[in-house]
Amino acid sequence: MDKERKLIIAGNWKMNKTVAEAIDLVNGLARELAKVKDADIVVCPPFTALSDVSKAILASKNIALGAQNMSENNVGAFTGEIAAVMLKEFSVRYVILGHSERRMFQNESDELISKKARAAHAAALKPIVCVGETLTEREAGRMEKVLETQIQGSLAGLTKEQMAETVIAYEPVWAIGTGKNATPEMAQEVHARIRADLRTLFNPAVANDTLILYGGSVKPGNVDGLMAMSDVDGVLVGGASLDEADFHRIVWFETKPKN
Ligand code: PGA
Repeated sequence: MDKERKLIIAGNWKMNKTVAEAIDLVNGLARELAKVKDADIVVCPPFTALSDVSKAILASKNIALGAQNMSENNVGAFTGEIAAVMLKEFSVRYVILGHSERRMFQNESDELISKKARAAHAAALKPIVCVGETLTEREAGRMEKVLETQIQGSLAGLTKEQMAETVIAYEPVWAIGTGKNATPEMAQEVHARIRADLRTLFNPAVANDTLILYGGSVKPGNVDGLMAMSDVDGVLVGGASLDEADFHRIVWFETKPKN
Protein backbone atom coordinates (compact mmCIF):
# COMPACT_ATOMS: atom_id res chain seq x y z
CA MET A 1 0.00 0.00 0.00
CA ASP A 2 1.57 3.25 -1.09
CA LYS A 3 0.78 6.21 1.07
CA GLU A 4 -1.28 8.85 -0.63
CA ARG A 5 -0.28 11.49 1.83
CA LYS A 6 2.94 13.36 1.07
CA LEU A 7 5.48 12.43 3.74
CA ILE A 8 7.45 14.82 5.92
CA ILE A 9 10.82 14.17 7.51
CA ALA A 10 11.52 17.01 9.92
CA GLY A 11 14.59 17.79 11.99
CA ASN A 12 14.11 19.64 15.26
CA TRP A 13 17.54 21.01 16.10
CA LYS A 14 16.34 22.36 19.46
CA MET A 15 18.93 24.62 21.17
CA ASN A 16 21.83 23.33 19.12
CA LYS A 17 24.05 24.73 16.35
CA THR A 18 25.68 28.12 16.02
CA VAL A 19 25.06 29.86 12.71
CA ALA A 20 28.32 28.49 11.26
CA GLU A 21 27.47 24.93 12.37
CA ALA A 22 23.92 25.25 11.06
CA ILE A 23 25.13 26.37 7.64
CA ASP A 24 27.60 23.51 7.54
CA LEU A 25 24.89 20.96 8.28
CA VAL A 26 22.27 22.35 5.93
CA ASN A 27 24.73 22.74 3.04
CA GLY A 28 25.63 19.08 3.41
CA LEU A 29 21.98 18.06 3.51
CA ALA A 30 21.07 20.18 0.50
CA ARG A 31 23.84 18.50 -1.50
CA GLU A 32 23.02 14.96 -0.49
CA LEU A 33 19.26 15.13 -0.45
CA ALA A 34 18.63 17.01 -3.69
CA LYS A 35 17.21 13.87 -5.30
CA VAL A 36 14.68 13.02 -2.60
CA LYS A 37 11.18 13.19 -4.02
CA ASP A 38 9.08 10.97 -1.76
CA ALA A 39 9.18 13.31 1.19
CA ASP A 40 9.34 16.96 2.12
CA ILE A 41 12.35 17.65 4.31
CA VAL A 42 11.93 20.31 6.99
CA VAL A 43 14.78 21.69 9.07
CA CYS A 44 13.99 23.64 12.24
CA PRO A 45 17.09 25.48 13.43
CA PRO A 46 17.11 27.88 16.39
CA PHE A 47 15.79 31.40 15.66
CA THR A 48 19.32 32.81 15.43
CA ALA A 49 20.19 30.61 12.44
CA LEU A 50 16.91 31.04 10.50
CA SER A 51 18.15 33.90 8.35
CA ASP A 52 21.32 32.18 7.18
CA VAL A 53 19.77 28.74 6.78
CA SER A 54 16.98 30.34 4.77
CA LYS A 55 19.55 31.76 2.34
CA ALA A 56 21.42 28.46 2.19
CA ILE A 57 18.33 26.54 1.05
CA LEU A 58 17.02 29.13 -1.39
CA ALA A 59 17.88 26.94 -4.34
CA SER A 60 16.70 23.70 -2.72
CA LYS A 61 13.46 22.26 -4.05
CA ASN A 62 12.79 19.82 -1.23
CA ILE A 63 14.14 21.37 1.96
CA ALA A 64 11.76 23.72 3.74
CA LEU A 65 12.38 25.85 6.79
CA GLY A 66 10.61 25.46 10.10
CA ALA A 67 10.77 27.35 13.39
CA GLN A 68 10.60 25.71 16.81
CA ASN A 69 8.08 28.08 18.38
CA MET A 70 6.35 31.42 17.93
CA SER A 71 4.23 33.88 19.87
CA GLU A 72 0.45 33.78 19.84
CA ASN A 73 0.56 37.58 19.47
CA ASN A 74 1.23 39.50 16.29
CA VAL A 75 3.10 42.53 17.57
CA GLY A 76 3.79 44.52 20.73
CA ALA A 77 5.39 44.53 24.14
CA PHE A 78 6.25 40.83 24.51
CA THR A 79 9.93 40.75 25.42
CA GLY A 80 11.81 37.81 24.02
CA GLU A 81 8.99 36.65 21.74
CA ILE A 82 8.95 36.18 17.97
CA ALA A 83 5.83 36.76 15.86
CA ALA A 84 4.67 34.71 12.89
CA VAL A 85 5.14 37.61 10.51
CA MET A 86 8.82 37.81 11.56
CA LEU A 87 9.27 34.14 10.71
CA LYS A 88 7.69 34.75 7.32
CA GLU A 89 10.46 37.26 6.57
CA PHE A 90 12.84 34.31 6.38
CA SER A 91 10.54 32.17 4.25
CA VAL A 92 9.70 29.92 7.19
CA ARG A 93 6.89 27.55 6.18
CA TYR A 94 6.39 25.39 9.26
CA VAL A 95 6.40 26.04 12.98
CA ILE A 96 6.59 23.41 15.72
CA LEU A 97 4.01 24.16 18.41
CA GLY A 98 3.44 22.59 21.79
CA HIS A 99 6.58 20.48 21.88
CA SER A 100 6.60 18.56 25.16
CA GLU A 101 9.72 20.42 26.26
CA ARG A 102 7.79 23.69 25.99
CA ARG A 103 4.71 22.16 27.62
CA MET A 104 6.99 21.05 30.45
CA PHE A 105 9.54 23.87 30.89
CA GLN A 106 7.44 26.83 29.73
CA ASN A 107 4.14 25.49 31.03
CA GLU A 108 2.47 25.81 27.65
CA SER A 109 -1.17 24.81 27.81
CA ASP A 110 -3.41 23.36 25.12
CA GLU A 111 -5.26 26.68 25.07
CA LEU A 112 -2.07 28.63 24.39
CA ILE A 113 -1.03 26.17 21.71
CA SER A 114 -4.38 26.55 19.95
CA LYS A 115 -3.95 30.34 19.99
CA LYS A 116 -0.51 29.93 18.45
CA ALA A 117 -1.88 27.54 15.84
CA ARG A 118 -4.52 30.08 14.82
CA ALA A 119 -1.91 32.86 14.68
CA ALA A 120 0.31 30.63 12.55
CA HIS A 121 -2.51 29.99 10.09
CA ALA A 122 -3.35 33.68 9.95
CA ALA A 123 0.21 34.19 8.67
CA ALA A 124 0.02 31.18 6.33
CA LEU A 125 2.49 29.14 8.38
CA LYS A 126 1.87 25.42 8.80
CA PRO A 127 1.85 24.40 12.45
CA ILE A 128 3.32 21.05 13.49
CA VAL A 129 1.31 20.49 16.66
CA CYS A 130 2.96 18.09 19.11
CA VAL A 131 1.08 15.78 21.46
CA GLY A 132 2.22 12.89 23.61
CA GLU A 133 1.76 11.11 26.91
CA THR A 134 4.25 10.66 29.74
CA LEU A 135 5.26 7.22 30.94
CA THR A 136 3.20 7.64 34.12
CA GLU A 137 0.13 8.49 32.06
CA ARG A 138 0.66 5.51 29.77
CA GLU A 139 1.19 3.11 32.65
CA ALA A 140 -1.86 4.41 34.47
CA GLY A 141 -3.99 3.66 31.39
CA ARG A 142 -4.65 7.35 30.82
CA MET A 143 -2.90 7.68 27.47
CA GLU A 144 -6.01 7.82 25.32
CA LYS A 145 -7.69 10.43 27.45
CA VAL A 146 -4.53 12.55 27.64
CA LEU A 147 -4.05 12.50 23.88
CA GLU A 148 -7.71 13.20 23.21
CA THR A 149 -7.59 16.22 25.53
CA GLN A 150 -4.40 17.52 23.94
CA ILE A 151 -5.75 17.06 20.41
CA GLN A 152 -9.06 18.67 21.21
CA GLY A 153 -7.51 21.57 23.15
CA SER A 154 -4.54 22.28 20.91
CA LEU A 155 -6.62 22.28 17.73
CA ALA A 156 -9.56 24.19 19.19
CA GLY A 157 -10.97 26.88 16.93
CA LEU A 158 -9.25 25.66 13.76
CA THR A 159 -11.46 25.51 10.70
CA LYS A 160 -11.49 22.43 8.49
CA GLU A 161 -9.46 24.36 5.93
CA GLN A 162 -6.86 25.27 8.56
CA MET A 163 -6.75 21.71 9.85
CA ALA A 164 -5.99 20.53 6.33
CA GLU A 165 -2.82 22.67 6.55
CA THR A 166 -1.89 21.45 10.03
CA VAL A 167 0.53 18.64 10.80
CA ILE A 168 0.37 16.59 13.99
CA ALA A 169 3.39 15.03 15.65
CA TYR A 170 2.82 12.19 18.10
CA GLU A 171 5.79 12.31 20.43
CA PRO A 172 5.49 10.13 23.51
CA VAL A 173 7.36 12.06 26.21
CA TRP A 174 9.04 8.88 27.47
CA ALA A 175 10.64 8.37 24.05
CA ILE A 176 12.11 11.83 23.55
CA GLY A 177 15.88 11.88 23.86
CA THR A 178 15.82 8.65 25.85
CA GLY A 179 16.79 6.15 23.19
CA LYS A 180 13.50 4.31 23.87
CA ASN A 181 11.32 4.61 20.81
CA ALA A 182 7.75 3.44 20.47
CA THR A 183 7.61 0.25 18.42
CA PRO A 184 6.11 0.66 14.95
CA GLU A 185 2.98 -1.12 16.21
CA MET A 186 2.64 1.22 19.19
CA ALA A 187 3.03 4.25 16.94
CA GLN A 188 0.52 2.87 14.43
CA GLU A 189 -2.05 2.23 17.13
CA VAL A 190 -1.82 5.77 18.49
CA HIS A 191 -1.76 7.39 15.04
CA ALA A 192 -4.90 5.51 14.04
CA ARG A 193 -6.56 6.68 17.25
CA ILE A 194 -5.56 10.30 16.60
CA ARG A 195 -6.99 9.98 13.09
CA ALA A 196 -10.22 8.68 14.58
CA ASP A 197 -10.32 11.71 16.91
CA LEU A 198 -9.85 14.00 13.92
CA ARG A 199 -12.74 12.28 12.19
CA THR A 200 -15.00 13.20 15.09
CA LEU A 201 -13.60 16.69 15.60
CA PHE A 202 -13.51 17.64 11.91
CA ASN A 203 -14.62 15.16 9.25
CA PRO A 204 -13.43 11.97 7.54
CA ALA A 205 -11.76 13.81 4.66
CA VAL A 206 -9.73 16.03 7.00
CA ALA A 207 -8.80 13.01 9.12
CA ASN A 208 -7.68 11.14 6.05
CA ASP A 209 -5.57 14.00 4.71
CA THR A 210 -3.86 15.09 7.92
CA LEU A 211 -0.19 14.18 8.20
CA ILE A 212 0.66 12.53 11.50
CA LEU A 213 4.39 12.32 12.23
CA TYR A 214 6.03 10.15 14.87
CA GLY A 215 8.76 11.61 17.07
CA GLY A 216 10.89 10.23 19.90
CA SER A 217 14.32 8.64 19.48
CA VAL A 218 13.96 8.15 15.73
CA LYS A 219 17.28 6.80 14.45
CA PRO A 220 18.63 5.25 11.26
CA GLY A 221 18.08 1.84 12.87
CA ASN A 222 14.36 2.22 13.59
CA VAL A 223 13.04 4.60 10.95
CA ASP A 224 12.25 1.95 8.34
CA GLY A 225 9.89 0.03 10.61
CA LEU A 226 8.11 3.19 11.73
CA MET A 227 7.72 4.51 8.19
CA ALA A 228 6.27 1.18 7.07
CA MET A 229 3.16 1.81 9.19
CA SER A 230 0.15 3.00 7.24
CA ASP A 231 -0.72 5.90 9.55
CA VAL A 232 2.84 7.12 10.09
CA ASP A 233 3.27 9.93 7.59
CA GLY A 234 6.75 10.95 8.54
CA VAL A 235 8.99 11.59 11.50
CA LEU A 236 10.06 14.49 13.69
CA VAL A 237 13.68 13.87 14.59
CA GLY A 238 15.61 15.51 17.41
CA GLY A 239 19.07 14.18 18.31
CA ALA A 240 19.67 12.26 15.10
CA SER A 241 18.86 15.33 12.97
CA LEU A 242 22.02 17.01 14.28
CA ASP A 243 24.20 14.45 12.58
CA GLU A 244 24.43 14.77 8.82
CA ALA A 245 24.95 11.08 8.12
CA ASP A 246 22.18 9.96 10.46
CA PHE A 247 19.63 12.44 9.13
CA HIS A 248 20.62 11.59 5.60
CA ARG A 249 19.93 7.90 6.27
CA ILE A 250 16.63 8.72 7.97
CA VAL A 251 15.43 10.75 4.98
CA TRP A 252 16.38 7.86 2.70
CA PHE A 253 14.24 5.51 4.78
CA GLU A 254 13.68 2.18 3.15
CA THR A 255 10.50 2.87 1.23
CA LYS A 256 9.80 -0.69 0.14
CA PRO A 257 7.90 -2.73 1.05
CA LYS A 258 5.45 -0.21 2.36
CA ASN A 259 2.61 -2.55 3.28
P1 PGA B 1 14.65 12.89 19.86
O1 PGA B 1 13.70 14.18 19.91
O2 PGA B 1 14.64 12.40 18.43
O3 PGA B 1 16.01 13.39 20.28
O4 PGA B 1 14.09 11.89 20.79
C1 PGA B 1 12.51 14.25 19.17
C2 PGA B 1 11.81 15.55 19.43
O5 PGA B 1 11.86 16.02 20.58
O6 PGA B 1 11.20 16.15 18.53
